[in-house]
Amino acid sequence: MAQLMRKNVLTGALAAREYIHFFRDPIGCMRTLHRQRGKLVALGPIAFGEPTKLHVLAIGPEFNRQVLGDPAKFRTTGQFIHGPKDSAQRRIRFGLTRMNGPQHKQQRQLILPPFHKKAVAGYHDLIVELAREVIGQWTVGQRDVYADMRAVTLRIASAVLFGHEANDAYRIARLLDIWARRNFSGPVWFFPVNIPGTPYHRLLRHAERVEREILALVEKRRRDSTNRTDVLSLLIRARDDENRGMTDTELVGQATILFGASFETTASTLTWTMFLLAQHPAIMRELMDELDRVLGGNAPTRDQVPQLSFLDRVIKESMRILPPVPFTIRAADDDAIPMGPLTLSHGSRVICSHFLTHHLPETYPAPEMFRPDRWREIDPTQYEYMPFSAGPRACVGAMFAIQVLKISLAMILQKFRFTVVPGARIDRVVRITMNPRYGMPMLVAENDRRFESSKVRGQIHEMVKLPLK
Ligand code: HEM
Repeated sequence: MAQLMRKNVLTGALAAREYIHFFRDPIGCMRTLHRQRGKLVALGPIAFGEPTKLHVLAIGPEFNRQVLGDPAKFRTTGQFIHGPKDSAQRRIRFGLTRMNGPQHKQQRQLILPPFHKKAVAGYHDLIVELAREVIGQWTVGQRDVYADMRAVTLRIASAVLFGHEANDAYRIARLLDIWARRNFSGPVWFFPVNIPGTPYHRLLRHAERVEREILALVEKRRRDSTNRTDVLSLLIRARDDENRGMTDTELVGQATILFGASFETTASTLTWTMFLLAQHPAIMRELMDELDRVLGGNAPTRDQVPQLSFLDRVIKESMRILPPVPFTIRAADDDAIPMGPLTLSHGSRVICSHFLTHHLPETYPAPEMFRPDRWREIDPTQYEYMPFSAGPRACVGAMFAIQVLKISLAMILQKFRFTVVPGARIDRVVRITMNPRYGMPMLVAENDRRFESSKVRGQIHEMVKLPLK
């Protein structure tokens, strides 16, 4: 008995340590667990969600397929703070990423059309115009490129989702950005007490404001009889097979989640890609040769985007080595689910890691090397390469995101040359997406093609083997 108690105390202490490590640095924690304990790691029973349930880290394509490929057995739980019953916080986080079963299927069917191939091609000119507008304001000198990339994607996401005329759309987008960030502050998680003055209280009040503003915009769009093509207007008009549309609450939840899912992920990808290119001058030169040859200094036209094949490989490789969404969590929705030697009970959490999957040497030899040309030779399955996840819940905005990435990068790189500030510390922080913790300080000059890498410090060296140490 005493021995059992001692074992439980030890397991609890270990779990608490892992939990804190995971909360502070999920990628570091997952890498350590993988290295020390293999591809299927049972964590102690205290972590997120239901505290008494087993938590498992499951690494590799087979587990990814089992978990992500079967939403009937593994449900999503959503990442944002729950909020009290009947609160705006609860309603605005209830979008596609939080839904399961028939409701998820029905809402996904309504959301997909604005992100189909043809619809996405229709956003081309708008993306070029908005990217030009934002980039046109940049000056040379030292800049935080992460802040710059957020500015580009904030402008594009707000216009495409909520409408081109800046005021309403941009205001709501900024409110949503603040809301998303507040969801990941330590005090909100560890002290969720709703009394005036606490960060949690401020989060709930902010959620109410977000809800009010989106509802007001929905009302405005409903009264607008022109054939608007922003995503919100398309969702207001969308009908499923049984001619059912979205309720106001669903519209608010979906608008919130679409914004949250699109803006920070794309900004993160742009920032890491800029970093990787700046640190690999030979690859940067090869890319510039392609941009010169195909675009000759101009923004890409619709027909030119598919001709940028090296840019395509650069983006693929960047999203492999530094995937913007490094992991996802699912909850077992059945009892006695076998997983390797383990048996999962209802409510057990499984962590699938895009990051670790993308760094498995059996799929990607020398996984820490940034080598865009490896994509000439490899053709991984959707469960081996999954920056946009895989299976029936894969990202609905993947094609749109790739379009934004290609156009923005082609325009930015033709205009400026970027060098990482020598000695900069490049650490990671994960709030659903993985971002540079202290921003991305770079020296920005007119593009004279004199590319040079810099010595940098920090956790980046655990993830990427850079030419300069
Ligand atoms: C580089 C940019 C992007 C990346 C890396 C990315 C990545 C992902 C990933 C990994 C998931 C699955 C999350 C999970 O299973 O927990 C996901 C889901 C989703 N993404 Fe994206 N995404 C990006 C851009 C976008 C854009 C531009 C939109 C829409 C405008 C979007 C909308 C969504 C939605 C609605 C879901 C939920 C799908 C569902 O649950 O059925 N994403 N994304």
